[in-house]
Amino acid sequence: MMVKYTALKEDDGRTYIVPLQDDEIKVKGLGRFSPNQILSESKHGDRVSIGQKMLTIVKSGLPELRKGMRRRAQIINPKDAGFLLAWMGIGSGQRVLEAGHGSGGLALHLANVLGSNGTLVSVENRPEHAEVGRENMQRAAGSLDEFPSWSLLEGDVGNVSFDGIVEEFDAIILDLPEPWDVVSKLTPWLRKGGRLACYCPVSSQLESAWRACEEAGLQIDWAGEMMERIWTKASRGGVRPGNTPMGHTAFLLIAEKR
Ligand SMILES: C[S@@+](CC[C@H](N)C(=O)[O-])C[C@H]1O[C@@H](n2cnc3c(N)ncnc32)[C@H](O)[C@@H]1O
Repeated sequence: MMVKYTALKEDDGRTYIVPLQDDEIKVKGLGRFSPNQILSESKHGDRVSIGQKMLTIVKSGLPELRKGMRRRAQIINPKDAGFLLAWMGIGSGQRVLEAGHGSGGLALHLANVLGSNGTLVSVENRPEHAEVGRENMQRAAGSLDEFPSWSLLEGDVGNVSFDGIVEEFDAIILDLPEPWDVVSKLTPWLRKGGRLACYCPVSSQLESAWRACEEAGLQIDWAGEMMERIWTKASRGGVRPGNTPMGHTAFLLIAEKR
């Protein structure tokens, strides 16, 4: 039976995702405790004390899963994930391929919208990253109201087989150092009208990915960068753009198969 999860939040926003189980667990920052002993009689919004900390119990939705996730590789953040999902038209019931899976940052966003009739295939070639990603996705499966059929294939995305999982994909998202190596191999798996995206931290990657997409017969739909400017409360009242500089994450390339 699938373990259910809930989120515990500190007042400063620090979030812990915990399995609702009888056995004692050890959570970094909270120590050892038996979740069901403390949480079984509680509901969302209740305050509980664990170790030295007061925490609020909240439903573990996408923001909590993201804040409380285990991390190894750099993750795709909501600024870019949200744009990709909207621009590529990813939603309920679709079949999506993402590589590399890393810690599952993007995969959490995908799982959140695909619904139980959707299919998500993740590919990761480093076992230590796959292990972290799998744990984050197990937490999502035990938290979200709906979760897609999910396969994690361990290996090089240029060599794995999708036979028996899907016939074709509605969308493919590549977050790899060298996406251009696999664009032509993966394009036949994309349905006509489907979109393939590359997440490119540096401009030389964008250029090579762009060329590879055109050589594979894809049409560039959107290429560029999303800027995010965060506002804060000013000390003398009012709100204003914060002092944190606008950070670069990656260039995004979205190409369509016509
Ligand atoms: C930046 S991380 C991915 C982060 C992930 N998309 C997220 O949002 O959390 C890139 C991942 O791609 C994996 N990778 C690199 N080349 C790969 C390949 N050819 N096939 C599969 N995975 C690959 C790396 O091991 C790494 O975990």
